[in-house]
Amino acid sequence: MSPYKEIETGQEKSSDVVWHLASVSHNERAKLNGHKPAVLWFTGLSGSGKSTVANAVDKMLYDLGCKTYVLDGDNVRHGLNGDLGFSDEDRIENIRRIGEVSKLFVDAGLLVSTAFISPFTNDRTMVRDTLSDGQFIEVFVDTPLEICEQRDPKGLYKKARAGEIKNFTGIDSAYELPEKPEVHIKTADKSVEECAREVISYLLANGYVKAA
Ligand code: ADX
Repeated sequence: MSPYKEIETGQEKSSDVVWHLASVSHNERAKLNGHKPAVLWFTGLSGSGKSTVANAVDKMLYDLGCKTYVLDGDNVRHGLNGDLGFSDEDRIENIRRIGEVSKLFVDAGLLVSTAFISPFTNDRTMVRDTLSDGQFIEVFVDTPLEICEQRDPKGLYKKARAGEIKNFTGIDSAYELPEKPEVHIKTADKSVEECAREVISYLLANGYVKAA
C-alpha cells in the first residue's frame, strides 16, 4: 500500500502496479537530517518575487544545516513540464506534477521550496491534501499587480497588455487569493532578506528547524 493519499488524475491505474516498501523510512531520514521535512509552497503573481524569496530562504536554511531544494516554475517548465502551456488545464497539470515531485522530496526528508504562480485554490488545496498535517506550508508572496507590472523583469506584462501573450495571470487569467496561508508576506516595502526572515521565523516558531 502507498503511504500517500490518492490523487484524482482521471486515469485508470493498472492493478499490476504495487507499492514497494522502502528499507529506510521517512522518519529515519528526517531524524538523520535533524529538521522536519515539508514543502514551502510559494504562490503569487509573476514578478511577485516568489523565486527570489524562495532562493533567499533556501540559502538561510542551508546555512542552518538543513537539506533543501528549490523547484522553480520557469526552470521546471523547461524540462519535466516542457509539454505544458498556460491554459487552465495545463496549469492544473503543472501543479499536479509539482505536487507529486514535492511529495517525493518531502518523503526524502527535505525542506523543498516551490515557486509557481499556482493561481487556483483547488490545486493548492489538492497538493495540501496529499501531504500529512504540517507538511504543506503555504507562503503567499503578496505583491500588488501594479508593482509586478512595473517591475516586469521579463517584459511579459507589456506583451500581455499588447495582446501578444494570452491567458496571462492577473491580466486575462485569474489569480485566486490564498485564504489562510501559513505565511503571508506583503513584499511592497520590504527587502528580500526581510521577506525571507518571515519564513524562517515561521519555521523556527513551529519547530521545523532549530536556530544555529
Ligand atoms: S502556473 O500558473 O502554472 O503555476 P508557473 O509558475 O509554472 O505558472 O509559470 C509562470 C511563469 O511562466 C511566469 O513567471 C512567466 O515567466 C512565464 N509565463 C509565460 N506565459 C505566461 C502566462 N500566460 N501566464 C503566466 N506566466 C507566464
